[in-house]
Amino acid sequence: TARYRIAVIAGDGIGQEVVPAAIECLDVVAERHDIVFDWHQLDWGSDYYRSHGRMMPVDGLDRLAEHDAIFLGAVGVPDIPDVETLWGLLIPIRRRFEQYVNLRPVRSLPGVSSPLAGTEPVDIVIVRENNEGEYSEVGGRLYRGTEDEVAIQESIFTKRGITRVARYAARLAADRRAAGHAGRLTSATKSNGIVHTMPFWDEVVRGVLAGFPDVTTDSELIDALAASLVLRPHRYDVIVASNLFGDILSDLAGAITGSIGCAPSANLNPDGRHPSMFEPVHGSAPDIAGQGIANPIGQIWSGALMLDALGHPDAATDLVAAFEAALAGGARTRDIGGSASTAEVAAAVRAHLETTAA
Ligand code: NAD
Ligand code: IPM
Ligand code: MN
Repeated sequence: TARYRIAVIAGDGIGQEVVPAAIECLDVVAERHDIVFDWHQLDWGSDYYRSHGRMMPVDGLDRLAEHDAIFLGAVGVPDIPDVETLWGLLIPIRRRFEQYVNLRPVRSLPGVSSPLAGTEPVDIVIVRENNEGEYSEVGGRLYRGTEDEVAIQESIFTKRGITRVARYAARLAADRRAAGHAGRLTSATKSNGIVHTMPFWDEVVRGVLAGFPDVTTDSELIDALAASLVLRPHRYDVIVASNLFGDILSDLAGAITGSIGCAPSANLNPDGRHPSMFEPVHGSAPDIAGQGIANPIGQIWSGALMLDALGHPDAATDLVAAFEAALAGGARTRDIGGSASTAEVAAAVRAHLETTAA
């Protein structure tokens, strides 16, 4: 039996709904593969902030370090500034545990239609740089409340940071090529001289890719890439992008295949020295929270990415097959044109897991 200690932070809004739904499914698939998850529920997030003045305890990161993985819903509420909720929990976890790869697969799913007419099947993996870039702590606001008010933020790109994410993306493209995909790597950039950091990104990425002669590579300007993703999403395979570009592209690509409610992500520490974190691409969705209608697929799929990262690809494959069968069978929430509740989708996924031979 393989046993894992998983830190669970359901967090805010629909995180409280989709996380339990995903855990139900993970427990079933785990049992069938001789895996035991010890779920360690942490009540951190905005309610915790309201009573303690912080998003997690002072030693929160040290406590997370004792786990094999972190399973997160979302954080963020309308009445607390995002700067508190995000810099108080999400971003410190990604940084402290050097989760420098944010892996965001995007695929057309059975029974889920794209809002775009005539789209061919899409199968993309976005590899988002997750520790630096545009999301820097350097900057601030000056002359607040005056007519001279200014906001400044420096982007920080390091050779080491770009190299490691580009290398991960290139290896992934090579592996996908071996598995029958195009094996094409597109680097999202903005190197036309306006943004100083991007020619550096390009240079470092080019240097890394020189070591991967089998991977077809190109580089596209982020604005044109966004348009092209809408027009020809099936042409893309692996996309490597900076923190902010990757963030935007992943919601865009998620919407193209049906809904960001289906989109998963893995915040990976590829060296395995620290726990990785698995969470959907979407946020706390305050507009639909508390109604039981949130799409749990992004969270469930994130659970499959966790199984994969923990070394259980067969269990991951079973879980993906089960939610695909559930979707195909009509267990779909409103955001993807159905009328099922969160709980009904989870029950359908479980039912598929229970009826397939292990
Ligand atoms: P959001 O992703 O929460 O919601 C955007 C839209 O998509 C909303 O209309 C929402 O109803 C819909 N949506 C999202 N997930 C869905 C799901 N599973 N099922 C059905 N519909 C879904 O983005 P937002 O509204 O811009 O942000 C809300 C809050 O979440 C903010 O505080 C933001 O900072 C935070 N946020 C947190 C994370 C995270 O914790 N990782 C990620 C993104 C946003
Ligand atoms: C995401 C989210 C976060 C990000 C926000 C909430 C800071 O949008 O995980 O995609 O931009 O990384
Ligand atoms: Mn985002």
